[in-house]
Amino acid sequence: MMSLRIGDDAPNFKAQTTEGEIDFHQWLGNSWGILYSHPADYTPVCTTELGRTAQLKEDFAKRKTKVLAVSVDDLDSHFGWVKDINETQNCNVDFPIIADTDKNVATLYNMIHPNASTSATVRSVYFISPDKKVQAIITYPASTGRNFTEILRVVDSLKLTAEHNVATPVDWKVGQDVIIPPGVKQEEVESKYPKGHRVIKPYLRYTPQPDK
Ligand code: BEZ
Repeated sequence: MMSLRIGDDAPNFKAQTTEGEIDFHQWLGNSWGILYSHPADYTPVCTTELGRTAQLKEDFAKRKTKVLAVSVDDLDSHFGWVKDINETQNCNVDFPIIADTDKNVATLYNMIHPNASTSATVRSVYFISPDKKVQAIITYPASTGRNFTEILRVVDSLKLTAEHNVATPVDWKVGQDVIIPPGVKQEEVESKYPKGHRVIKPYLRYTPQPDK
């Protein structure tokens, strides 16, 4: 099966989750979405990641971004694990976790990398826009927990660059200057970027974040 790539349609699916059955596209509605996989329930790194997701509830809500976790264990296992996560991470997990026992979602989204493990998913993160396109993908091995500051930063960049013709430079954070893309002719810069700009090299031009 071909890997999903940036710009592809995000495949739809129906799945049993800890919040009831969902149709993925319907559940997303007009929100941005993060679909991310976990190697297994009752594992330590995943416990910390799901805890962090719950702690960041307001940060995802502010960004109109819904989060959906995937694990190939069953619903009973998920419910028991959620209790442990809430207890140990001091949080309240109230976003859905898919019980992907038939590995339907894991297969659709290429979350099993057979040379890493033939049965457990790796740590995939798919960023999906409201038009249900894949906008970014990050993948970590089971042994490396993800950085949720980076996940939020990617959402900020994706949303900004979807709405404005800018790019975000290395380590960019909300509020910092952004990059004028190379395709914009210098004679158009003043009218298109009324907040001003700096030319470091003809191909390296900065402008203040347009929506701040
Ligand atoms: C974990 O989530 O803690 C984990 C899962 C598989 C391998 C290593 C760690």
